[in-house]
Amino acid sequence: MLDNFIKISDLTQGEITSLINDARDFKHFSKQPSVENKTVCLMFFENSTRTKISFEMATQNLGIRVINFDNATSSINKGESLKETAENLYFIGIDALIIRTSDENLIENLLKQTSYPIKLINAGSGKTSHPSQALLDYFTMREKLGDVAGKKIAIVGDIEHSRVAKSNIALLNKFGANVFICAPEFFKPNVVPEGTIYTPDLKEAISNADVVMGLRIQRERIKETYSEKTYVDNYRLNSELLEMYAPDAILMHPGPVNRDVEITSELLDSPKGKTILEQAKNGVFARMAILNQLLGEERI
Ligand code: CP
Repeated sequence: MLDNFIKISDLTQGEITSLINDARDFKHFSKQPSVENKTVCLMFFENSTRTKISFEMATQNLGIRVINFDNATSSINKGESLKETAENLYFIGIDALIIRTSDENLIENLLKQTSYPIKLINAGSGKTSHPSQALLDYFTMREKLGDVAGKKIAIVGDIEHSRVAKSNIALLNKFGANVFICAPEFFKPNVVPEGTIYTPDLKEAISNADVVMGLRIQRERIKETYSEKTYVDNYRLNSELLEMYAPDAILMHPGPVNRDVEITSELLDSPKGKTILEQAKNGVFARMAILNQLLGEERI
């Protein structure tokens, strides 16, 4: 039973496996929800389509009530702290907060501050953590490849600003994948994550890869100047490159895609591009598994 869902490094291999097994069972209608009379609140301080709507879909599939927190009209705008907000919401009857924030420490700080057992779910924080995305990505890889141990996973693009990359690396390392990260110098992370191989050479990164995962250029987080044209000229994924260097690779991307920047339209709209939509679909089942495990026990 999970207490909270904040970052991949909090989870054991066994807990991740249990979650993706539940996601698989929900997808194939062979598991019944075990949550009753629960209410969650979606607290999104940053934009989202996939994560927000799929958490909402997941709650509704499980029979959980869902309430949207409207930051613009909330008392946070009158100076109330998030701790007080969360504690008041708990007493109003909210069992879990699903939070997206640009602040990578906000959710862990809230966990330390709050005196009441409201559950916290990270729906993407800063540039470091997006655990439900990593879970749905792993679920998708498991469906396509079976075990990821020893498989070559090439993650290409804006690694430095990507919480998706960081959470995927943390998860894939736990399961013995060979993770290559590929970026130009201006998107190379300040610290190359342990257990990954960095190369600026796209062909080397994707050569014979089992998975090629593109990343969105996180324009809203980039303060330095960089050349998008240089990126497109050297790192944009297209069908010809994949056919030549990684003909059997699965193409993944967390979305939203900057079309014709990270991936060409012709590749995105080809059969290879369909896995990206399957990732979005699998997000619902992965999030059902998270909510079901987090809220499956009686409220204290
Ligand atoms: N992948 C992802 O987090 O997408 P959204 O920003 O649309 O939620």
